[in-house]
Amino acid sequence: MNKNIAIDGPAGAGKSTIAKLLAKKLGLVYVDTGAMYRGLAVFFLRKKLSADDEKEISRAAAEATVTIKYENGVQQVYLNGENVTAYLRSEETGKMASASSVYQAVRDRLLDLQRDLAASTPVVMDGRDIGTVVLPDASLKIFLTATVEERARRRINELKEKGLEVDEEQIRKDIAERDERDMNRPIAPLRQASDAVLLDSSDMSIEEVVDEIIRLYKEKNPV
Ligand code: DC
Repeated sequence: MNKNIAIDGPAGAGKSTIAKLLAKKLGLVYVDTGAMYRGLAVFFLRKKLSADDEKEISRAAAEATVTIKYENGVQQVYLNGENVTAYLRSEETGKMASASSVYQAVRDRLLDLQRDLAASTPVVMDGRDIGTVVLPDASLKIFLTATVEERARRRINELKEKGLEVDEEQIRKDIAERDERDMNRPIAPLRQASDAVLLDSSDMSIEEVVDEIIRLYKEKNPV
């Protein structure tokens, strides 16, 4: 029986914060698959490709190799040998990642790498299709969500803390648009796996969510 945890859910639900804490507490390796899509997105943006151009994006995906390394326990994303971790979190990269991840060639480029990582060591992996496509036999699957309003509020606070100017209405719109695209694409859409546990973090603290997942994990993996 593998000891992998799969966490799926929409943008801003708190997946990466929760997954990082779980990895630390349970001694698992954290794999952020969104960062891998963002790594490819950096490549497409540098090539000035349009997200609508499936042919060019697919061709470019074949030229890009995204790898993951852990430096002092922190995930670093390499694009064709260059560490691009610093470029992953911008809104522009997030939008391109969401738009380009609808294409089969882009998903295929990353799927084997994600599965290989989980086969080599127990992981907590987060994304959109981990419980449904990437690790269908994960020992625990969580679908972590929160209302659009709450997710927008968290994102706005995060940006304000960084001292950035924020167009609050635009952030809400972007989140709703991203949900719409991630959930309605034909290939590997964001969807709760039938055997996933649904957690709505709108009114839960980070600690409450982490504790609940650890409880579920221990139920499945008694020592
Ligand atoms: O989790 P994130 O915001 O970093 O992900 C960026 C985009 O990548 C997301 O909008 C959709 C895509 N993605 C995906 O299609 N499948 C995954 N497993 C992870 C991310």
